[in-house]
Amino acid sequence: MGETLKGKKALITGSSRGIGKETALKFAAEGADILIHYRREDEAAEQTAEAVRQLGRQALLFKADLGSPEEIDAMFDYVQSEWGQLDILIANAAATAFKTILEIKRHHLEKTYQVVVNSTLQAVQRAVPLMESRAGRVITVSSMGSDFTLPRYANLGSAKAALESLTRYFATELGPKGITANCISPGVVETDSLTFYAGDRFKAFKNGVISKTPLGRLTQPDDVANLSLFLASDASAFLTGQVIRLDGGLTINNHYPPEIEF
Ligand SMILES: NC(=O)c1ccc[n+]([C@@H]2O[C@H](COP(=O)([O-])OP(=O)(O)OC[C@H]3O[C@@H](n4cnc5c(N)ncnc54)[C@H](OP(=O)(O)O)[C@@H]3O)[C@@H](O)[C@H]2O)c1
Repeated sequence: MGETLKGKKALITGSSRGIGKETALKFAAEGADILIHYRREDEAAEQTAEAVRQLGRQALLFKADLGSPEEIDAMFDYVQSEWGQLDILIANAAATAFKTILEIKRHHLEKTYQVVVNSTLQAVQRAVPLMESRAGRVITVSSMGSDFTLPRYANLGSAKAALESLTRYFATELGPKGITANCISPGVVETDSLTFYAGDRFKAFKNGVISKTPLGRLTQPDDVANLSLFLASDASAFLTGQVIRLDGGLTINNHYPPEIEF
């Protein structure tokens, strides 16, 4: 327990489970009140909220499909009425259909871009007035699929590339208001959604990734939560507009055939 975020209010999208949940608990342990946002799983969201309360902080809960601009607006109306202010916005949630280029239909792309890109722009537009004179922090969550091609990942990877670009524009245009914006690009993170993506090849995929990672393990949700804490804290006050890779060195070590030994 610490006081790094004492008195701060944080809205974390997709914080009922996975990386978002880990971040919510870390932030609460450092003194922040949290709005737990989720889409479907009431029980998971309730459990996360209860864990935040156990840490002595306030947990608000809000169910909203990021596919719906009306539901996003309703969530920010709720923040406005409950808190009237916001210090930290983490655009963490994502959803997509994993398809090859020839399988992708227009609705797959539209849904992914709405949930990853459009919803983040809308959330930031709603968050800025609540961050007035508060040294606001915007943190977005991308993935290595924005820079590197991954199997069945074109839909989400291209949306993440747009999200990274948008983050740089947030930094440029909101900097004069004292708001920073940075993006975390985690490597392969051990979560439920990774198991879903890798399917029955999970074990081989995991071992392959570990063998190419200089630090010898997968990224953990706690690694991402730690970096988010730094980006939300006063210690990162002069850092803005950056995409930070958090992958144990995986992406700097992935460009030669695996059979080459040095
Ligand atoms: N896991 C990885 O290996 C990895 C690697 C790199 C980057 N990332 C990124 O890290 C972020 C978090 O990933 P994660 O693996 O922890 O979990 P995730 O499966 O991407 O997200 C889970 C959370 O997002 C919510 N959510 C999903 N679709 C939503 C929608 N349409 N509207 C509103 N909320 C929605 C879920 O709520 P419900 O459960 O209620 O539906 C849940 O709270 C994502 O941006 C992901 O792309 C993940």
